[in-house]
Amino acid sequence: MSAVPERVVQVGAASRQYPVYIASHALDRLGERLREHVSTNRVAVVTDDNVGPLYAEPALATLRDARFEPRLLTVPAGEESKSLARVSALYDGLAAARIGRDVPVIALGGGVVGDLTGFAAATWQRGVPFVQCPTTLEADVDSSVGGKTGVNHASGKNMIGAFYQPLFVLIDTDTLRTLSGRDFKAGLAESVKHAVIRDPEFFLFHEHFLNLILTHDPEAMGQLIERNVQIKAAVVAQDERETTGMRALLNFGHTIGHAIEAAMAKQGDSWRHGECVAAGMAAACEMSVVSGRLDRAIADRIVSLLERIGLPTQAPLARARTELMQYINADKKAAGGNLRFVLAEAIGRARLYDDIQPAWIEAALRRVCV
Ligand SMILES: NC(=O)c1ccc[n+]([C@@H]2O[C@H](COP(=O)([O-])OP(=O)(O)OC[C@H]3O[C@@H](n4cnc5c(N)ncnc54)[C@H](O)[C@@H]3O)[C@@H](O)[C@H]2O)c1
Ligand SMILES: [Zn+2]
Repeated sequence: MSAVPERVVQVGAASRQYPVYIASHALDRLGERLREHVSTNRVAVVTDDNVGPLYAEPALATLRDARFEPRLLTVPAGEESKSLARVSALYDGLAAARIGRDVPVIALGGGVVGDLTGFAAATWQRGVPFVQCPTTLEADVDSSVGGKTGVNHASGKNMIGAFYQPLFVLIDTDTLRTLSGRDFKAGLAESVKHAVIRDPEFFLFHEHFLNLILTHDPEAMGQLIERNVQIKAAVVAQDERETTGMRALLNFGHTIGHAIEAAMAKQGDSWRHGECVAAGMAAACEMSVVSGRLDRAIADRIVSLLERIGLPTQAPLARARTELMQYINADKKAAGGNLRFVLAEAIGRARLYDDIQPAWIEAALRRVCV
């Protein structure tokens, strides 16, 4: 693979400004980058047991080269690690490694490691410096940027968390080479989401260059990741804490997507987050059509792109529709009694609506849960 030029995107969140570095071999410069920010010797690196054997040693080596004494903490791979029990175990590890107030904690892994480690970093000693080194496409294009950290609770996904921005994000595009095809495609769901809510040209980019994207062409991937980070950064700059409705647009496909995620897990067939979001976006498109806000032909175009990628736009949940409805209503309670959904109005334009009729959701569930 030829080297991709380094791309840097600045995130201007209200609570912190920070750079996102995107490059081939970016991990080689982790120690050097961190030295620009901190003067301590100690540092903790949190990873999972899939990513650790692949990337922990090179990451630790660059930290040692920059005169750090790194301590590695490894959690089991998988969504189940996004739990308070795992946070508690991480605190034990941080205490044993004597990670004090000024000592940075680095998340090396996918969205699970990033969300979990970010939350631990936000709360340990009321907040220690935090760095994101994402290794999945999902984390590159979405979860590592914007400062949402947290874990799941029995009552729902991401119920416990904090907004906590990193010092910087380091995206090594080479790490995608070892990612499974299934996880790679799951990450593309969030990329399509960004295009649908904000950027018609970026949607065309997916349609035109899909073959290059699916074969990991370095230039196409560099552009794709950079554009995603720019879109996310622009949204977060305007609405870091999801108070004005702007950041809520990023939840396109997620209300039904999270319900599908919970129902599939209950059925014993855990789907990737991005897969659930793909089916959730198909459902949101259907709601957009039946509520008269989106042309059927445009909805079909979005669904067809997801299908060309190889993402599911339907889920085997025909018998779980009532349960999904209950899950969505629980989400409503969390949102203060109003059923709110992000609907698409065109490719590149979405809006948060609170006039949602249950019949629209039922129509979407009939189409998507088969
Ligand atoms: N904080 C946010 O803003 C935000 C946004 C989107 C998603 N998320 C969260 O992100 C999580 C999903 O993230 P994910 O899809 O990255 O899942 P993940 O972290 O579980 O990673 C997927 C799988 O790939 C493995 N893996 C990671 N990097 C690898 C690599 N380079 N090579 C080989 N294997 C590798 C992992 O061990 C895991 O088995 C969900 O919990 C979701 O809620 C958070
Ligand atoms: Zn998501």
